[in-house]
Amino acid sequence: LNYNVNRERRYILQVLFNGLRRLEYRGYDSAGISIDDSPPPPSLSSAAPSASSNDPPPPLVFRQEGNIESLVKSVYQDVAVTELNLEESFSDHAGIAHTRWATHGEPAPRNSHPQTSGDGNEFLVVHNGVITNYEVLKETLVRHGFTFESETDTEVIPKLAKFVFDKANEEGDRAVTFTQVVVEVMRHLEGAYALIFKSRHYPNELIACKRGSPLLLGVKDLNEDTNSGSALHDSKFLSKNGHPRELFLSSDGSAIVEHTKKVLVIEDGEVVHLKDGSVSILKFDNAKGRPSNALARPASVQRALSILEMEVEQINKGKYEHYMQKEIHEQPESLTTTMRGRLLRGGSCKAKSVLLGGLKDHLRTIRRSRRIVFIGCGTSYNAALAARPILEELSGVPVTMEIASDLLDREGPIYREDTAVFVSQSGETADTLHALEYALENGALCVGITNTVGSAIARTTHCGIHINAGCEIGVASTKAYTSQIVVMAMMALAIGGDTMSKQSRREAVIDGLFDLPNKVREVLKLDQEMRDLAQLLIAEQSLLVFGRGYNYATALEGALKVKEVSLMHSEGILAGEMKHGPLALVDESLPIVVIATRDACFSKQQSVIQQLHARKGRLIVMCSQGDAASVCLGGSCRVIEVPQVEDCLQPVVNIVPLQLLAYHLTVLRGYNVDQPRNLAKSVTTQ
Ligand code: G6P
Repeated sequence: LNYNVNRERRYILQVLFNGLRRLEYRGYDSAGISIDDSPPPPSLSSAAPSASSNDPPPPLVFRQEGNIESLVKSVYQDVAVTELNLEESFSDHAGIAHTRWATHGEPAPRNSHPQTSGDGNEFLVVHNGVITNYEVLKETLVRHGFTFESETDTEVIPKLAKFVFDKANEEGDRAVTFTQVVVEVMRHLEGAYALIFKSRHYPNELIACKRGSPLLLGVKDLNEDTNSGSALHDSKFLSKNGHPRELFLSSDGSAIVEHTKKVLVIEDGEVVHLKDGSVSILKFDNAKGRPSNALARPASVQRALSILEMEVEQINKGKYEHYMQKEIHEQPESLTTTMRGRLLRGGSCKAKSVLLGGLKDHLRTIRRSRRIVFIGCGTSYNAALAARPILEELSGVPVTMEIASDLLDREGPIYREDTAVFVSQSGETADTLHALEYALENGALCVGITNTVGSAIARTTHCGIHINAGCEIGVASTKAYTSQIVVMAMMALAIGGDTMSKQSRREAVIDGLFDLPNKVREVLKLDQEMRDLAQLLIAEQSLLVFGRGYNYATALEGALKVKEVSLMHSEGILAGEMKHGPLALVDESLPIVVIATRDACFSKQQSVIQQLHARKGRLIVMCSQGDAASVCLGGSCRVIEVPQVEDCLQPVVNIVPLQLLAYHLTVLRGYNVDQPRNLAKSVTTQ
């Protein structure tokens, strides 16, 4: 946060804390904040004074293990101790804050951000990403007399900044600017980062830069009513000196949307300088975002602001207790939005068809591909797996699946003749992003399927489709999963074109899509039933989920939901593999969910149920409405009846009861459903 109007300390803290609360889903094991101790003297230029007794007091730094509320508590307690005045007013101010998901070093105050250059807090840094060459940098800095207090990779950054600053001063360069210091630091960093620097030597200034990790600038003009609206100015708008305004930097729009919707997506290699409410952005002409020469004259960035497509209501829980609960229940609406304007049910002469604007210029190339490779992680991978059968059926092109990290580990073959499709809710997952870079290097046509407009994957792919599911906050992905499947089903229709032989199937799928939100609304009525089931399973150690065909993915995704939030061991099992190992686990006590809704695999699943039943398996069978008697042998199992839809869309309906089961199990077991242990929503590190 940076501004040039009168604000009280109380307000500054509130904005930073609220921003952190919005970002908590990205990391929640420790947090930190830095604000000014007392109003720094007005700085006339960005030229740096040397460190002297005239320097402003060191910025205050508070860091705390645990969630944001522990930090809030500790800050207010410390404020009381140090007798800091919450009413104290600042006419210019630059504050930073961070919520962490540990990669290097355990959650602890010393490992939390801001990381500092040492006593006196001369340079402070918050970081999203990973610095891969930190060990080498650390050794060098240690040789120069620096001591390190944390185990983080980040700590080398503020220390390097101090080293650069001191060196410039020793060499008599008293006018070294904050930007020059940061650019020199960037020259030495390898890995991925979005960084914000605050310094005692440059009061009221912030510098941000990025390479690989996301970063947004938000601009709120306090005299204009244009912060949410249509009046978009060009980039000159960024440097309105003296105009009262607040400026925000964040990894994610959710932290700033309550203040402004006017944003600029910062690109790799750009260095943003905020000072007293004005902005300047320099671009270092290096694709990798690593400036080659700190003294090189970089280009000044002239880019129009854009409007954040996010509503504050979307990031509130509304009438629900948890985000995961809200997101499960809003699936009828999110699916409708995903399909809006994309499905045509024909008029008198038009056939039923699908229109995907982001793909239409590339459909010919995709149809002629040697194969289509779907690449993703976690739930996004499962969504692609769920859509695979219909993609194969309608496109006629071989479809393969890759977990992003595994593709990279193997350096698996990707050819120029391939279409590589990157599926990612956030559009920022590091593994998926690296796989994308790899596929680009290998010359494949790269398609993105993401929920985040302006995300790295959306920007780096040749073309793509936004799933438009709305902001998803719960760490366990729910509504994005169902929207991803629907987008991929529409993609299958679009690639399939209008071959006569598949006409009736295509029309059935389109009809099914139109009706899908209603069917999901219907299946959500199982909420109480799933709560009762959760109550029954609350003390279990383990849960198996068997599926096959269209619903193999449902088994994997259902088990993933259960394990990631309720912390109950759970495995999704391909029912066709049952006899090759999993059958050994079956006994009277282990609960097993079998998905046996109507499709071409139904009779095979009936036989699986028989075999499990013969081993006295404790069965919970998910079947189509009216099929209870056909699946429940001897009436000994529990049944979940769901509405039947077109087979390829059945995974969208079938996952809902399992999402509800995972949700209720978690709440009943007393765990945090929106912030599961050790997990983060966007995994921006490899
Ligand atoms: C993390 C999240 C999962 C998500 C996965 C892939 O592990 O906790 O919910 O499925 O990343 O994320 P993406 O944003 O690429 O879909």
